Amino acid sequence: MMVCEYKPGLEGIPAAQSSISNVDGQKGILEYRGIQIEELAEKSTFLETAYLLIWGELPTSEELAAFEYEVRYHRRIKYRICDMMKCFPESGHPMDALQASAAALGLFYARRDLNNPIYIRNAVVRLIAKIPTMVAAFQLMRNGNDPVRPRDDLDYSANFLYMLNEQEPDSLAARIFDVCLILHAEHTMNASTFSARVTASTLTDPYAVVASAVGTLGGPLHGGANEEVIQMLEEIGSVENVRPYIEDCLERKSKIMGFGHRVYKIKDPRATILQNLAEQLFAKFGQDKYYDIAQEIERVVEEKLGHKGIYPNVDFYSGLVYRKLGIPTDLFTPVFAIARVAGWLAHWKEQLEENRIFRPSQVYDGKRGIPYMPIEHR
Ligand code: SDX
Repeated sequence: MMVCEYKPGLEGIPAAQSSISNVDGQKGILEYRGIQIEELAEKSTFLETAYLLIWGELPTSEELAAFEYEVRYHRRIKYRICDMMKCFPESGHPMDALQASAAALGLFYARRDLNNPIYIRNAVVRLIAKIPTMVAAFQLMRNGNDPVRPRDDLDYSANFLYMLNEQEPDSLAARIFDVCLILHAEHTMNASTFSARVTASTLTDPYAVVASAVGTLGGPLHGGANEEVIQMLEEIGSVENVRPYIEDCLERKSKIMGFGHRVYKIKDPRATILQNLAEQLFAKFGQDKYYDIAQEIERVVEEKLGHKGIYPNVDFYSGLVYRKLGIPTDLFTPVFAIARVAGWLAHWKEQLEENRIFRPSQVYDGKRGIPYMPIEHR
């Protein structure tokens, strides 16, 4: 067997053959099934994009209508899931609540029939439909309120904002939220998707696949960075403080949240679109002082780290958009998960099509041949 060099973080090592999405990190191009992200952000909807990712082609109007209908029909969550979530500590992080609730769905839909396209379709529909409801329900219940029932007359994104804020959202706000979901839906072999594929390769159920991916997304080096960006903006507090703050971070060798990417060596195309969405929201609903701070951070980081290819990633501007939409900071990463479930499910389905269990090797550098020492002699 060929012995490969060990690469920390598996940098540059293909973990799968996939036709779902593609990133050109030098040119800043992202495509879902060959279609550029800018075009999808302008013309598509999240549910249409999810369909494209999962089934490989843009749906016809009949196919899209059927998918939208099924998702709408399955939005409600069982009382027993709500009762379980009510018992979660209200101080707990919503990502942990989401991971536990996604896994709990597997208790209710236990039959595992991975060769049956109807089982696959039902699991896709249930997860896409119920995850936003679970995120909104935890938000209301941790504040002592009852969850809001989904509204059948509202589309996917408008309904989520309605369930969260208990009022019908402005149409621009709902459209901008939908575009955010499109932008976050899929991104090649990132950590949470890799996690989803490894879990999928054991032929476990899709709820376990999504729960393991949610757990992976939550970390501050991955999806959790969007929450940390807002904390950084709050800590900096003013445009004048930006330069000393960044210089101090660099001196302490601490990472600047929302910057850098394993694949992109220029600004992430999603960050550019999100910045533009933030500006549209500020024009309609009023400015945000953190936006000036964010722009100054971008300038200073580019000056200091541009030569290393470190630019804003998807997590840098998304928080400013979510803040303006009234979404609490610790829900930013669960919102990322609402979108990314489409990509995880596309990879789950693709993994099953030509499955082989993941079982990489390791480079062992520990001791060997050590005799067992009886406890009284240690
Ligand atoms: C996401 O993979 C995906 O596709 C993920 C994602 C998706 O859609 O799924 O795009 C979503 O996870 C975005 C990333 C969110 N994370 C952050 O914003 C956290 C801050 N960024 C980093 O920690 C870092 O850039 C990573 C984790 C994103 C990438 O890590 P790598 O590829 O392992 O890079 P590295 O940590 O080895 O850094 C390489 C060099 C180092 O300098 P040198 O030691 O070579 O001199 O770049 C420097 C790092 O110090 N560097 C940074 C930096 N990111 C990298 N320096 C300061 N601030 C940063 N943010």
